[in-house]
Amino acid sequence: MSDLMRLVPAVVMVLTGVFITSVAPSSQSTSRILVAHRGASAYAPEHTLAAYRLAIEQGADYVEQDLAVTKDGVLVCSHDLTLERTTDVETVFPDRFVLDAKDQKRWFIADFTLEEIKRLDAGSWFGATFAGERMLTWDEAVAAIGGRAGMYPELKGPEVYRARNIDIVAVFAAALARGKLDVSTPIRGRAPLVIQSFDEQTVRELAKVLPKVPRTMLIGSEAMAERWLSSEARVRELASFATDIGPAKQIVLGNPVMVTWAHAAGLTVTPYTFRSADTGTFPDVTAEMRHFLDVLRVDALFTDNPDKFPRK
Ligand code: G3P
Ligand code: CA
Repeated sequence: MSDLMRLVPAVVMVLTGVFITSVAPSSQSTSRILVAHRGASAYAPEHTLAAYRLAIEQGADYVEQDLAVTKDGVLVCSHDLTLERTTDVETVFPDRFVLDAKDQKRWFIADFTLEEIKRLDAGSWFGATFAGERMLTWDEAVAAIGGRAGMYPELKGPEVYRARNIDIVAVFAAALARGKLDVSTPIRGRAPLVIQSFDEQTVRELAKVLPKVPRTMLIGSEAMAERWLSSEARVRELASFATDIGPAKQIVLGNPVMVTWAHAAGLTVTPYTFRSADTGTFPDVTAEMRHFLDVLRVDALFTDNPDKFPRK
């Protein structure tokens, strides 16, 4: 996250040349920022209304949406580019798969219309009490979260969409231009929207297309960490097009000085993913998050367990 998110100075937000407004700092700002990863995804099926609503109830500052594009060009909330892990697509559309390089059956979102996707059950895989949950569009996520928390979308698989002649950055910018999301009003003193991607080209394009929207460069591999976090000069270069670094948490543990370099370059740091099911050597997820916030001095973090976030 950028200084925009932490401090919210008087800001001019220009989105696709449409929105221009100034905002004032809010007395409600807090210094540590909770991003609910796929919603409150430890307790409810990821990217459903149930998960997003629970995240808000549990005090999320931001709710994350991973975004994919349907056959008819609609942004939907899904971590995976395919449907089989989190829906009953194999039952509803048994013949609509393609075989991947390993001969595995895959049902790509990009091969289904929104109307078809809306027929799928996106809750039962997680638990019977969530049967009937539906996949959400980006617009539905905006409506559900409704200014009660910030939006933190990740543009998934841009290279896959490029190969299909779909520019997911352009699709997202067009969705913003339709104006469903109020990008001019801060939420608890912070920017209402932050965008993230693992793809360097995508983050660079976002810097051009939506220059005033904070953007996270996600870093998930050792190769990416070597490219961007192995020296202070590399981090400074990253700051020329990103406003925040989102490393896998192990990368921060292995190279904690990167946080100092990031702050010196004007970048914030938002590691992922903190979950009660995987806390490494820490006794619990709250202790793990506290270590990252208080000792390693990260600015924000992604967690599946918003209720376990250490506010102080
Ligand atoms: O976007 C932060 C984190 O969510 C990245 O990992 O695979 O859960 O999208 P993933
Ligand atoms: Ca994500």
